[in-house]
Amino acid sequence: MTEFQPKIVTFLCNWCSYGAADLAGVSRFQYPPNMRIVRVPCSGRISAKMILHAIRKGADGVWVSGCHPGDCHYIEGNYYARRKFFLLKELLEYTGLEPGRLQFSWISSAEGVKFAQVAQTVIDEITALGPATHLIKRIPEVA
Ligand code: FES
Repeated sequence: MTEFQPKIVTFLCNWCSYGAADLAGVSRFQYPPNMRIVRVPCSGRISAKMILHAIRKGADGVWVSGCHPGDCHYIEGNYYARRKFFLLKELLEYTGLEPGRLQFSWISSAEGVKFAQVAQTVIDEITALGPATHLIKRIPEVA
């Protein structure tokens, strides 16, 4: 039996966290390859629908990372994101999904080391939860 390797959809803000991921790669900081990175203009661009869609399609977890508070390229996109994710996390918990499947962080483009460390933490926490079976859309069997 092979060890469980979670699939994690990772939304990274173009201006900060994506730069940090790039810096981590260029600097050869190690982090597991479980993530499927989606580059977005701002963390405020991520909607609850995008996160739920990733989980329905089989992701074991979703990680969203944006600029630090006060550093958003679009002034307050990350503040909107923070509010949205707080509410979504509560909602997911209410539906029975473990809140740890949704992770959120602030990482600037100069923080390649932090990116690798947070990536490892996210992967460890989602691995500990095991495969996500809740909210996955089942395709009805055709007779
Ligand atoms: Fe990075 Fe808004 S531009 S979070």
